[in-house]
Amino acid sequence: MIFDNISISQAIVLFAIYSFMGWIIEAVYRSISERQFINPGFLYGPFISIYGFGAAFIIILTFLIHPWPLPIKLIVYGIVLTLTEYFTGFIFEKVFKLKLWDYSDSRFNIHGRVSLLFSLCWTALALIFITFIHPAVLRHVQAQDGSFLRVISIVLLIYGVTDFVFSIATITAFRRKISYLYSEYFNLSDAEIEKIFSSFKRLRSAYPNLRRYIDNNIDMEIKNRISTFLKSILSKIRLNMEGRKPFEDEFYDITKDIYTHDEFMKLKLHQHHNSSIYDHVMDVSYFSYRACKFLKLDYQSAARGALLHDFFLYDWRNHDVPDLPAEKFHGIEHPKIAIANAKKHFILNDIEEDIIRKHMWPLTLVPPKHKESFIVSFADKYLASKEFFDKFKQNNVRRQIKKTPKAHKPHKKHNDPHTQHDREPRV
Ligand SMILES: [Fe+2]
Ligand SMILES: [Fe+2]
Repeated sequence: MIFDNISISQAIVLFAIYSFMGWIIEAVYRSISERQFINPGFLYGPFISIYGFGAAFIIILTFLIHPWPLPIKLIVYGIVLTLTEYFTGFIFEKVFKLKLWDYSDSRFNIHGRVSLLFSLCWTALALIFITFIHPAVLRHVQAQDGSFLRVISIVLLIYGVTDFVFSIATITAFRRKISYLYSEYFNLSDAEIEKIFSSFKRLRSAYPNLRRYIDNNIDMEIKNRISTFLKSILSKIRLNMEGRKPFEDEFYDITKDIYTHDEFMKLKLHQHHNSSIYDHVMDVSYFSYRACKFLKLDYQSAARGALLHDFFLYDWRNHDVPDLPAEKFHGIEHPKIAIANAKKHFILNDIEEDIIRKHMWPLTLVPPKHKESFIVSFADKYLASKEFFDKFKQNNVRRQIKKTPKAHKPHKKHNDPHTQHDREPRV
């Protein structure tokens, strides 16, 4: 007996039952929110041991603080469960470099590992557990034959240890593969990358934050590789905006049939982040062209795919058009609309189609198939989030307005193919 008339074999069985109940709660919650079946948790089997530990702590606490008033007991439950959650998250992040859950988006969170709302939920669950669930389960377990429970507990123990060892091996292999992926990313073929991605499919679906983790690391790798000339690309884009220096002739040659197309030029009429969609896609396209050329990738497809990546003709902040009714979410839908528009007027190759379809990854769940798509997705996010860049644009407009009361085209020194389709004044 350990305490409260619970034997060691009963305790093991109870731990397994409560870990299994935790698995059911997580599986139902996660499968509903992700709209597909998710086998949650770190282990292969249907057990989430943090729930087993949480239940054990509550049982021990209740035994120790039994005479205390209920409000004080609830506060103690809340504190202990919050600490359990925090330190489990902390250990996984430090040891396995994995964030198993992330409350960063919810209010009153600490390092994304715990949040006030969830701590309140755990406290309420603890009260329900100790009042109703545990007494009923304990009655059933204690009614079982002692030798039967001993056999079951030994089987569960062997199973638990085996599952734990295999799960640790999987996570370690995952860490090895992923660091190999990052370091060799630009030397691997698309098929090899695909193979690595599909090999950790279960882990990816079990941990939604893994997608963000992989994405961030690939973006970081891309940024590191191209950081040597990141500044020169931005300054070239800036000079082009000011009309002082056009992009390379080769870039215009590759993309001319698109940016001179009547339908495509309608993008000038639609506002995007801080400029028209037309200007935004030109910048992303040029950035991707230069980056892919530097990395010896297919820069033609990158430039063309990037140019078409936001080929939608509506105001995304306030949309209610046949292409995208008001109730649909622009972030998810617009790559499909861009693909349809692009296919109507141009012939796309596999890389270009992948670039357009996946440029919002990881928002659109399927990861890109080609490195060029990662570059475009990175370029899109990078340029869109450059605040200093936006400020520069606004200052530039102010300067131009001051200099010339009437809007006029900036002068160009030579036969620049972009002259006919000059940038709109920025607002
Ligand atoms: Fe987009
Ligand atoms: Fe974009």
